[in-house]
Amino acid sequence: MSRTLPPLRYSRLVGALPAVVPFIPPEALERANGRPIKVRIGANENSFGPSPKAIAAMADATKRIQWYCDPEGFVLRRAIAERHNVSRDNIALGAGADDLLGLLVRAFMNPGDRVATSFGAYPTFLFHVNGFGGKPVATPYREDRNDPEALATLARRRKAKLVYLSNPDNPTGSWVSAESQLRLIDRLPPGAILVLDEAYADFAPPEALPTIDPEDPRIIRLRTFSKAHGMAGARIGYAIAPAETVRAFDKIRHHFGVNRLAQEGALASLQDPDYIAGVIRKVEEGRQDYKRIAERLGLKTLPSATNFVAIDVGSADRAKAAMNRLLSEEDIFVRMPGVAPLNRCIRVTVGTPADRKAFGAALERVLTRIDAGA
Ligand SMILES: Cc1ncc(COP(=O)(O)O)c(C=O)c1O
Repeated sequence: MSRTLPPLRYSRLVGALPAVVPFIPPEALERANGRPIKVRIGANENSFGPSPKAIAAMADATKRIQWYCDPEGFVLRRAIAERHNVSRDNIALGAGADDLLGLLVRAFMNPGDRVATSFGAYPTFLFHVNGFGGKPVATPYREDRNDPEALATLARRRKAKLVYLSNPDNPTGSWVSAESQLRLIDRLPPGAILVLDEAYADFAPPEALPTIDPEDPRIIRLRTFSKAHGMAGARIGYAIAPAETVRAFDKIRHHFGVNRLAQEGALASLQDPDYIAGVIRKVEEGRQDYKRIAERLGLKTLPSATNFVAIDVGSADRAKAAMNRLLSEEDIFVRMPGVAPLNRCIRVTVGTPADRKAFGAALERVLTRIDAGA
């Protein structure tokens, strides 16, 4: 007996959106490949893991997992505020920077408003913009880095409400100076906000990080525990923003969305700066290693102030073939930028020394096979 079910009636916005997956997760790639990934260096996770103190704190927090978390994140926000020398009222927690990107888009953008970004920038910002009915406009990267001057000009010309800059940048790894960011802020159209995504700030040189009054209404900074702190799976990040913005987020955020394990783990991680400094050193070593691997193969790397390196393999076709064959033939997961001219690169997260050795050997084999047409 056949049943006729009524059609689903989506909102106009969702009904009109294409089905998109911003990132194919490594787990889905493993399922498609039918085998586990051996070297996971594609999602810019931390290959060295979180601080042992954070692991212990999260394990201990499981004993209280029957309780909801503190929806105000009081203790952690105080610790973060102390670290940045701002008030607790200037800190908003989120389930990763990605969650906060959604919140700020929802808080400041009306459907139809324009937002400005770099063409090929980290995609989650635009994912939220599209999901809330905004209109993206983009300016190209210049010499493989963000172009704050062009972003400001575009934002003024198109009257953008939000301007997105990831600094240091994903997918290039590049960074722009604090002065050029301050100039961008000064040139924003009236009422616009710079969304400064500093997911990789822990790896950045000091001259890439501007000093900004947290009450400046023209800027919201985002930080995360996913990278240097190695807690990507726990989903926790924060915004540094005017107190009024933090209160506005309170009107719309998922109050219990930053779970107890994440909050307690992040607090312990903040209290282990030596461990984090060690991660940053190991990442720096890894970046040098990738440079040597690339040079040995006659390739160049883009300068990076992040935990990954973009390796220029010469063309989009070669990059795509290398990425696909590293996965299907070598069980190594890397990614590549989606748009030209950056799509001549593969983007490789700093792995452990063993990961890097395996990657270097595999990349050589794969490129040899590609070039031989095998
Ligand atoms: C620029 C940038 N922003 C945000 C994120 C995501 O951060 P989170 O894990 O805190 O959501 C990433 C992760 O790769 C990133 O590269």
